[in-house]
Amino acid sequence: MLEVRNVSRTYGEAHALRDVSVTIQDGQFFSLLGPSGCGKTTLLRIIAGFEDPSQGQVFHKEKRIDNVPANRRRFNMVFQRYALFPHLNVKQNVAFGLQMKKTPSAEVEQRVSEMLSMVQMETYGTRGVTTLSGGQQQRVALARALVNRPEILLLDEPLSALDLKLRQQMQVELLSIQRRLKHTFIFVTHDQEEALTLSDRVAVMNKGRIEQVGTPQEIYEYPKTEFVARFIGSINVLGGEVGDGAADSLSFVGPGKRPFIIKASRDGSRPLPSFAKGTKVSLLVRPEKLKLLKSAPGPEQNTLEGTLKEVLYQGPITQLFVQPKETQGPVWVISQPNTAVTARKQFNLGEKVYVSWLPEDCLLLEKDGNGSGG
Ligand SMILES: Nc1ncnc2c1ncn2[C@@H]1O[C@H](COP(=O)(O)OP(=O)(O)OP(=O)(O)O)[C@@H](O)[C@H]1O
Ligand SMILES: [Mg+2]
Repeated sequence: MLEVRNVSRTYGEAHALRDVSVTIQDGQFFSLLGPSGCGKTTLLRIIAGFEDPSQGQVFHKEKRIDNVPANRRRFNMVFQRYALFPHLNVKQNVAFGLQMKKTPSAEVEQRVSEMLSMVQMETYGTRGVTTLSGGQQQRVALARALVNRPEILLLDEPLSALDLKLRQQMQVELLSIQRRLKHTFIFVTHDQEEALTLSDRVAVMNKGRIEQVGTPQEIYEYPKTEFVARFIGSINVLGGEVGDGAADSLSFVGPGKRPFIIKASRDGSRPLPSFAKGTKVSLLVRPEKLKLLKSAPGPEQNTLEGTLKEVLYQGPITQLFVQPKETQGPVWVISQPNTAVTARKQFNLGEKVYVSWLPEDCLLLEKDGNGSGG
């Protein structure tokens, strides 16, 4: 278990990390996700030992390690730029760490070839690394880090230099390697889809803080802050305030003073929020929870009237964009799967439409400080 406790890091006036605490269990694929400059690399470098925290501690297996030098932590890091030795061939690059540790040459030979076959580079052993493609170099960098059997592998945006196809292929490879070796992987990315796909758990970071840690599903379905909700996937937002409460529901007073109803999620994993009447909040709904209708539905549904602005066919789904009548805010996005039924349902641009959703399918969150919201 790796534990980061109340770690802060400042560079002069700049706060790269502010009171970060997080626990990472052994054998997990754990991702640090957040926008550029939020402190991901700084946190990774502090865990690796390349950087000291200004405040706080780091523990590994209940022993304090933030005063232990990097080369004694048994962690390995894969950098965003592969940093291979250009004058060595593939095998020599992978063998380097073992040779430094004076590992017997028969063992070096065996472990290097094992690693190269794991990353599917076994036929490239004698190639100079500068003659390899980006994806091949990336795989050599991975083999070079893994051959040392690190207890924790730290990966700083290792796939960001790759094109989409190769990136997806490498994601699958990384995951299968991690499942086979059962090592702890701490993976930095600013790509939310990549984090959701690969991780057992995700920490979402914003401006030097961790806003939420959870499984991909928890982060997507039950974001705790507006920042997390907006950063992961796309989401529609209305600004307003809390109205009256009832036994199993709460009302939200949106633009035009119209009430919307909020309920706990059906499976009970998201309870009814407990805001006081009058609290400024945002109502948020994912595009796939919305239905588009030609006439107003019954009162058991939340409804927003608007004008259909755009229809984008995207293969498996169609995205529809609606300008709500009662807000000057951004258009709402509705995403519909292209089943045989929906494909035939025709809407015309400029048409008056109704966007509707169930009271249990939306979130109510405190308005965040950025002044965002519909
Ligand atoms: N050596 C340094 N000196 C001064 N400021 C630094 C230093 N290293 C990082 N910072 C600042 O700390 C903040 C966090 O940087 P960090 O590299 O951790 O971000 P990041 O989340 O990895 O971003 P990116 O996604 O762009 O790689 C940034 O504002 C950055 O400018
Ligand atoms: Mg970085």
